[in-house]
Amino acid sequence: MPDRRIRTLTVEDYPHVTAVVDEWWGGRPVRSLLPRLFFEHFNPTSFAVGKASELQAFLIGFVSQSNQSVAYIHFVGVNPSARALGLGRKLYEHFFQVVQALGCTEVRCITSPVNTGSIEFHRRMGFALLPGSGEIDGFPVTLNHSGEGQHRVQFQKTLEPCRPGA
Ligand SMILES: CC(C)(COP(=O)(O)OP(=O)(O)OC[C@H]1O[C@@H](n2cnc3c(N)ncnc32)[C@H](O)[C@@H]1OP(=O)(O)O)[C@@H](O)C(=O)NCCC(=O)NCCS
Repeated sequence: MPDRRIRTLTVEDYPHVTAVVDEWWGGRPVRSLLPRLFFEHFNPTSFAVGKASELQAFLIGFVSQSNQSVAYIHFVGVNPSARALGLGRKLYEHFFQVVQALGCTEVRCITSPVNTGSIEFHRRMGFALLPGSGEIDGFPVTLNHSGEGQHRVQFQKTLEPCRPGA
């Protein structure tokens, strides 16, 4: 039985994650979106499940430096052999707790409109799809969000404010 406890993502995970992400994303070339700095400077809000060499899942997130009440999830990935077991949900719920304790009241993230699995996952996690400047396959998208032709669905979820001692 693999170890499914959540631990901190560290720089030791960097080569292992970059070796598998394109495959985990169904062959989409996403590796360049995960430079080493995410594994060095975002440890308090980034998590993994499984040993680095037998990675089950990871999440890279942070508190926005522009608005400290907003947290942002940059990447979440679950090993195809460990999907539909609740690991994505477990990582998100852990992230929500951590950033709530840091004073965040909102979580944001984006995904590509072709990634319908990600859109459904985020809906199940309680995210709303924000209105955009266009629509693709029925989903609201912000056109050219991440560059020319790089349209993105934007998600938002409100967190309850964390009450001290609650
Ligand atoms: C999206 C992803 C992270 C989901 O991880 P997972 O561990 O399989 O998801 P979970 O088992 O925790 O599912 C959580 C909920 O989302 C739903 N869900 C997850 N993936 C889904 C999919 N492809 N289609 C429909 N619903 C989905 C589950 O049914 C579940 O609902 P419930 O808890 O209300 O019953 C995983 O499929 C993945 O790594 N995909 C490739 C990478 C990617 O696209 N990442 C997101 C963009 S950065």
